[in-house]
Amino acid sequence: MSLIDQLNQLEYEALAALEQIADLTALAEWKSAYLGKQGALSRLSRGLGALPAEERPVAGARFNAARATLEQALERAEAQLKRIARQHAFEADQVDVTLPGRAPAVGRLHPTTQMLRTIYGILGEMGFQVWESPEVETDEFNFQLLNMPPDHPARDMWDTFYVETAPGEPTLLLRTHTSPGQIYAMRANAPNPVRAILPGKCYRYEQVTARHEMQFYQVEGIAIGEQISFSDLKGTLVAFAERLYGKGVKTRFRPSYFPFTEPSVEFDIECFLCSGAGCRVCKHSGWLEILGAGMIHPTVLRNGGYDPDAVSGFAFGMGPERMAMLRYGIDDIRWFFSGDERFLQQF
Ligand code: DAH
Repeated sequence: MSLIDQLNQLEYEALAALEQIADLTALAEWKSAYLGKQGALSRLSRGLGALPAEERPVAGARFNAARATLEQALERAEAQLKRIARQHAFEADQVDVTLPGRAPAVGRLHPTTQMLRTIYGILGEMGFQVWESPEVETDEFNFQLLNMPPDHPARDMWDTFYVETAPGEPTLLLRTHTSPGQIYAMRANAPNPVRAILPGKCYRYEQVTARHEMQFYQVEGIAIGEQISFSDLKGTLVAFAERLYGKGVKTRFRPSYFPFTEPSVEFDIECFLCSGAGCRVCKHSGWLEILGAGMIHPTVLRNGGYDPDAVSGFAFGMGPERMAMLRYGIDDIRWFFSGDERFLQQF
């Protein structure tokens, strides 16, 4: 076979092989097999030297033309394969805009926070302003100024956690109730009238059960001024309960004892679970206690900077977790600090 015939066959073969190529790796292999320095075309062209001198220019030109043809075919094939690869990539990560979107997870307020804000709303409309006071307290504020000198037996109701302090420093503890806040609010306002609520966290050294936690919230309230009477206290608390639990909710006052009030009461709501018939949640009494209250003791008024002969006042302290339990039918207070999303997502 003449050199030119061999060249024609090689060209034909190369173009046919190129047709079959489906990816860029195979294309690179094709390139080095036919057009590379050691490729088929270069090897064949070595035969040019053996041709008679007068045939060489024509044959050389034919070799150049064949190389040009193959290079152009390579370029076209490469462009085509790249286009296809791009198309595939595009199709692979195409977004289906007709799919329904994923709903973003929306955060929400903790049920205690919701209850606190409801309480602020109702008492705010009655003219009570929100005050804050410290969670770490002195023995003086948590007990003494509230009419509980050291060794007063009533302190047994409020065992707590103590903070280590240097000898000679005042005793520090985690407050057992929001009542010490009364003193701050009084001292900031005396001798003027005041209506304030003091929300916040309290702590007790408690046996933790379905009804008792060692951390919980309270909302303390005080109203001080001339001629404030026990009927004002009753009217305020009944109106408050009706706003929270609906008109017609059954409530009752029971005589009680707190060192910082005289007289003292506890305020109950009819049990949500058994509607008064008696059940496990209400300890078969039909009632659930939601707050303690009373007329502020003259000693406490004096400690707050007021003259008990000139003014009087009432105070109350309520437990928002208890109240949320009543409102939503929650039967265990430990849920509130569990951080369990299955619980939290229900509110
Ligand atoms: N501090 C009381 C407690 O934690 C609750 C309380 C009772 C608050 C009577 C008051 C009150 O302001 O007048 O048990």
